[in-house]
Amino acid sequence: MVGPREGDRLWDRHVLNSIAGADLFGEGASVVDVGSGAGLPGIPLAILRPDLRVTLLESLLRRVNFLELAVDELDLGDRVPVVRARAEEHHGTFDVVTCRAVAPLPRLVGWCLPLLAPGGRLLALKGSSASTELADAAGLLRKHRLTGRVHERPVPGTGESTWLIELSR
Ligand SMILES: C[S@@+](CC[C@H](N)C(=O)[O-])C[C@H]1O[C@@H](n2cnc3c(N)ncnc32)[C@H](O)[C@@H]1O
Repeated sequence: MVGPREGDRLWDRHVLNSIAGADLFGEGASVVDVGSGAGLPGIPLAILRPDLRVTLLESLLRRVNFLELAVDELDLGDRVPVVRARAEEHHGTFDVVTCRAVAPLPRLVGWCLPLLAPGGRLLALKGSSASTELADAAGLLRKHRLTGRVHERPVPGTGESTWLIELSR
């Protein structure tokens, strides 16, 4: 989440962090960014990867208003629709469901599995405890017949890493 005192770290902690795993998204994929907030990771991802269609899903009206303004100002057009909805109430399926700083893995599984198209994947941006979070969810993954893995990616220009949990069937 981008807080009011995050200005100095906006670029590396938020924008560059959002694109660190961009190589994991398949060419031309349909993507939904669940709990997009100020547009992270969806907007940087959509700018970097013009082949992707990135839906920004957000439940709070004030943030949706900002997202619509940002998409308009950045001229991202129909390729980046903004949808006001709770993830668990949204109907639609996508090749990739992505999210950042939204909820612990068990809750994400409940919200995001119905949004996955056949063969789809969840890519959740997480911190350094991603492997522990994945291991803790082993029972849940078995129950839903999901395969999980963690990808570590360098955050460009920062010397730091970020981690993505990938879940697939
Ligand atoms: C901590 S913020 C993170 C925002 C952004 N992804 C980021 O990394 O800065 C979590 C966001 O998820 C949204 N959110 C929480 N629960 C949601 C749900 N069930 N469906 C859709 N959005 C949700 C909140 O309104 C908030 O904007």
